[in-house]
Amino acid sequence: MSKLAAEIAKRRTFGIISHPDAGKTTLTEKLLLFGGAIQTAGAVKSNKIKKGATSDFMEIERQRGISVATSVMTFDYQGVKINILDTPGHKDFAEDTYRTLTAVDSVILVIDCVKGVEEQTERLMEVCRMRKTPVIIFINKMDREGQNPFDLLDELEQKLSISVRPLTWPINMGSNFKGVYHLLDRSLNLFSANKTRIEKNVVSVDIHTPELDARVGEKDAAQLREDVDLIEGVYEPFDRAQYLSGEIAPVFFGSAVNNFGIQELLDTFTKIAPPTQARGTDVRVVEPSEKKFTGFVFKIHANLDPKHRDRIAFLRICSGVFQRNTFYQHIRLKKNVRFANPYNFMAQEKEVIEEGFPGDVIGLYDTGNFKIGDTLTEGEVLNYQGIPNFSPEIFKELINLDPMKSKQLEKGIDQLTDEGVAQLFLQPQLGNRKIVGTVGDLQYEVIQYRLEHEYGAKCRFDGMQVSKACWITSEDPKKLQEFVRLKGQNIAQDKDGNYVFLAESDWILRMNQTNNPEIEFHFTSEFK
Ligand code: G4P
Repeated sequence: MSKLAAEIAKRRTFGIISHPDAGKTTLTEKLLLFGGAIQTAGAVKSNKIKKGATSDFMEIERQRGISVATSVMTFDYQGVKINILDTPGHKDFAEDTYRTLTAVDSVILVIDCVKGVEEQTERLMEVCRMRKTPVIIFINKMDREGQNPFDLLDELEQKLSISVRPLTWPINMGSNFKGVYHLLDRSLNLFSANKTRIEKNVVSVDIHTPELDARVGEKDAAQLREDVDLIEGVYEPFDRAQYLSGEIAPVFFGSAVNNFGIQELLDTFTKIAPPTQARGTDVRVVEPSEKKFTGFVFKIHANLDPKHRDRIAFLRICSGVFQRNTFYQHIRLKKNVRFANPYNFMAQEKEVIEEGFPGDVIGLYDTGNFKIGDTLTEGEVLNYQGIPNFSPEIFKELINLDPMKSKQLEKGIDQLTDEGVAQLFLQPQLGNRKIVGTVGDLQYEVIQYRLEHEYGAKCRFDGMQVSKACWITSEDPKKLQEFVRLKGQNIAQDKDGNYVFLAESDWILRMNQTNNPEIEFHFTSEFK
């Protein structure tokens, strides 16, 4: 096997997703702990925004700015190179999570056994389904009185539109939680609440012998036998191919905070999760094993130190070998760029690298060249796809409060929207009115704060009567121009100059769709 092929086969690049509070941060940390990447719990900073307050967000961002290592965590485990991509849990930053999901090859979804499937879970799974991303489900907090595990599985199937297949099974729950039975290995992992140490208490047990009763008590033993019979009767044997094609999600049960059920998850994950996958571009599908380097930027992280306005672009390598100090083509800007200090992210630090392989995420210092979705290649003109802007849900007009600082404001809002904090729409016909669209109110506070602290510009946001923005196209350019002319105030342009129709209400949007069949209305910017 060539070096490139061996490196590709070794990598597992994935994201952990959950509704806030289900245990994503805890699980991430425990995976690092079990993987030997950290020695003590408490090393992974939560990126949770507890009260939804800006100060909270800024504090978190500051910490992350100092230690951006938390955005990607890499460690080696049993010969496998694991890259975990962090995703924000807060719904106002959902777009950031969606974009991160374009850079992973698989996903672990964390569910709280008490709360079951929650709103964010459904939305995140929708993105995974769209992309056919393989998903493993970890049902967490089994040390609490949760829902019946069969009911949970039914709920997962119904609400997430995916078939599930349990690979471990819980024995009781809450204060009577005894542990999990591994349905494939036929072993028993006995539970003991322990937040700090890793305890291994795995025994091979034939559940049809009295040994099981001795281990977990007669009642729970009888229940487990009944449950296992039912599972084996109802569910097909686990088929990896179905998991890889995104049709079936294997399910594990455990308690992350108690270090329990993690070993089974990690061991199975390293065995079944897909290595680096091929990816689609606007021209063709690129295989990771192709010799020439290609990659795309899926996240840009601002450096919150106002003295250094440089940013860090997160690039996912898709094919070939990325080399330090080598010129690559920045496709959108049609220019050659090279990087003196690209780095990768170990569990708690970052280090400059000489080369990177497909599946890796590397950090590139950026002085304003990058926008989310940008592609780098060795010269071939292609663009990675699937990093759309979604139609925002809230729209506000940006008002400059200090005319002396117009330039700073322009630059600031331009850069912040490049980072994907929000989307900017312009109305040149209306005195270059600037409309900022987001998926959550919190972003306006973040933008205001950052414009002031990083760019020295003061602004205010005024509410607008807009409920939806759709990108519009038409096969007939004349019809499009005519529509644009007629709709005047309702027309804006995105940063790439594409026309966008701003509708005051869903009803108005529908009416315009019906009355203008020659115009196509798109809900994401990716419609080419
Ligand atoms: P998130 O990143 O998905 O938002 O969740 P996070 O890991 O921060 O976990 C949310 C809360 O759930 C935390 O408690 C955490 O300790 C708790 N938790 C995680 N795993 C388990 C588990 O297996 N069992 C139980 N009972 N709780 C669990 P918190 O009170 O919000 O924070 P903390 O002060 O304990 O850190």
